[in-house]
Amino acid sequence: MMTKDVAELLKAEILLQEVHLQGWVRTFRSNRFIALNDGSTIKNIQCVIDFENTSEETLKRITTGAAVSVKGTLVESQGRGQSVEIQVKEIEILGDSNPDEYPIQPKKHSFEFLRENAHLRVRTNTFSAVMRLRSKLSFAVHKYFQENGFYYMNAPIITGSDAEGAGEMFRVSTFEPNKAPKTEEGEVDFSKDFFGKETNLTVSGQLEAETYAMGLSKVYTFGPTFRAENSNTTRHLAEFWMIEPEVAFIDLDGNMDLAEDFIKSVLSYVLENCQDDLEFLDQRFAQEEKSKPQQQRSELGLIEKLRFVADNNFKRVSYTEAIEILRNSKPNKKKKFQFPINEWGADLQSEHERYLVEKHFKCPVILFDYPANIKAFYMRLNEDGKTVRAMDVLFPGIGEIVGGSQREERYEVLVEKMKALGIEEEELWWYLDLRKFGTAVHSGFGLGFERLVQFVTGMGNIRDVIPYPRTPQNAEF
Ligand code: 4AD
Ligand code: MG
Repeated sequence: MMTKDVAELLKAEILLQEVHLQGWVRTFRSNRFIALNDGSTIKNIQCVIDFENTSEETLKRITTGAAVSVKGTLVESQGRGQSVEIQVKEIEILGDSNPDEYPIQPKKHSFEFLRENAHLRVRTNTFSAVMRLRSKLSFAVHKYFQENGFYYMNAPIITGSDAEGAGEMFRVSTFEPNKAPKTEEGEVDFSKDFFGKETNLTVSGQLEAETYAMGLSKVYTFGPTFRAENSNTTRHLAEFWMIEPEVAFIDLDGNMDLAEDFIKSVLSYVLENCQDDLEFLDQRFAQEEKSKPQQQRSELGLIEKLRFVADNNFKRVSYTEAIEILRNSKPNKKKKFQFPINEWGADLQSEHERYLVEKHFKCPVILFDYPANIKAFYMRLNEDGKTVRAMDVLFPGIGEIVGGSQREERYEVLVEKMKALGIEEEELWWYLDLRKFGTAVHSGFGLGFERLVQFVTGMGNIRDVIPYPRTPQNAEF
């Protein structure tokens, strides 16, 4: 007898075979029909019990959430809604689930409730679909880079540097909070700490990835990154996964081409390989949209949206052009923006990004050449002396999904910039070395993996696309 998973059985072409399967009961009705799910697919398989030959006690123990092992015959289904079903010959209850206590009932639960039960939520249709897609997307990311000559590079998670210079770091220390040794000046003496210096969890693997790009030419990182920013939004996590390609000998245009090609490729991959889950999420998305006021509804369905992005060119617009568009926009003139756009130099907020993408261009937008003073120190200065070769990719419903740039490869210009920002040369001596020994034009970007999963699954809150979200005041599980 073959042990098979539900996905395999639903595709099976040979009927009347004796099979063995295991999974969790989703529902049990009329003392006869089990909808069984093992997570291999969004679909349940119907297992039909011969209740006359099944003990009363066993029937009682077949409850939502119970783990069961089933042996039986795969037959063409008598009922509607499924092609095959299992005629059960033998059922064993592997693990009971008390129906009065099990939180996941066969009804609609709110996402807030399911976040509090994050250890069980993967047993629902929505979360299993999201997490299967998350896994497939990770594979698509590696596939894209591996097939295009990139090497996977693991940047350190513990580091002494602040790549983004925003100071939003989680400290790593083995000191007892109140017993840290002090210097003569009364400051905490980090020279006595584990690493002999101040260290933190990385906010980005970029700086280390750059060192590898300057030897392997094309590399990418895909790992966890950490930001202690107190942002309680639907798009921010304190711990998130970032994909950071870094490439020698390409400039900003090449970088934009890479970002666009990469995103389109992973979207095409899931469109081709994850149809069942996407169709389920597409329906969920459509229902969700119905409950919104007309003006806020998405014009396209979820799958349509993915196809649209995969098949159409992203619009490339300079920051300066974008400011003009925003300045003359209706919401700006009618004072509808929380942060009005008055002049060149303003930092763009998510309301502005979403206006450009959703209302003005109605497609993904790549903004480039931002003012130097609103971007990180490592971006290459343009000839105008006031803008840098930065780029952000903006997506409908998400806002910024990618941030990247051409890097400053000129030693003197970089040192000057670091001085102006008060970044110690001694701290980044190795980063500066790259500009001393065989420096070259190079570029890269970072894509927030959870924002990509959000876009693909249509989930409104980033907390619902990572197994265990870490956000301010929350590190349960
Ligand atoms: O724009 P960011 O800060 O860029 C960097 O870190 C660069 N060092 C990347 C590079 O050039 N190699 O972050 C990159 C992306 C953002 O566009 C966003 O998608 C995501 O990371 N991101 C977050 N995602 C979830 N929660 C947060 N708190 C995020 N902060 C950034
Ligand atoms: Mg950014």
